[in-house]
Amino acid sequence: MSTDAIVLLKEDHKEMRRLFKAFQDAEEGPASKRKQLVGQIIEALTVHTYLENEVMYPEVRKLLPDLEDDILESYEEHHVADLLCAELFTMDAEDEHFNAKTTVLIENVLHHVEEEEQEWFPKVREALGRKQLQEIGERMIELRDGAPRKPTDPKALKKSLHAVTA
Ligand SMILES: [Fe+2]
Ligand SMILES: [Fe+2]
Repeated sequence: MSTDAIVLLKEDHKEMRRLFKAFQDAEEGPASKRKQLVGQIIEALTVHTYLENEVMYPEVRKLLPDLEDDILESYEEHHVADLLCAELFTMDAEDEHFNAKTTVLIENVLHHVEEEEQEWFPKVREALGRKQLQEIGERMIELRDGAPRKPTDPKALKKSLHAVTA
């Protein structure tokens, strides 16, 4: 199994795309199914966001100052997704806002993931060596088990609160 940071993050993105597709297929279906899928989406996003916020973004920012604007924009995009996830987490799937909010979350995350994969991950790949990307990936693997899985976890809240109060 690869420990390359970009490979690992792209695997997460792939799983997210799969869950998004599953939600879109279930959009007209029973509330219980939609609630379950959104729960899985929120969990996947909470873990992924934590790993990017704690490891990938600060590391890239430190090593590649030219990408600072991309990183700052990424934090803001994650922040918008965090707010939507926090709202969806407590929302009843019967609520008329549930599907619309999930659709906006999916659109936002897909846009963000495209920017990572198309625009700045390739620059990171070019600038950093294989060894450096593996070290970053290894740190993400270490943190993964203890990563927050719910938006209400203090570890997940810390970053979202910081973004609005800083
Ligand atoms: Fe991201
Ligand atoms: Fe990502």
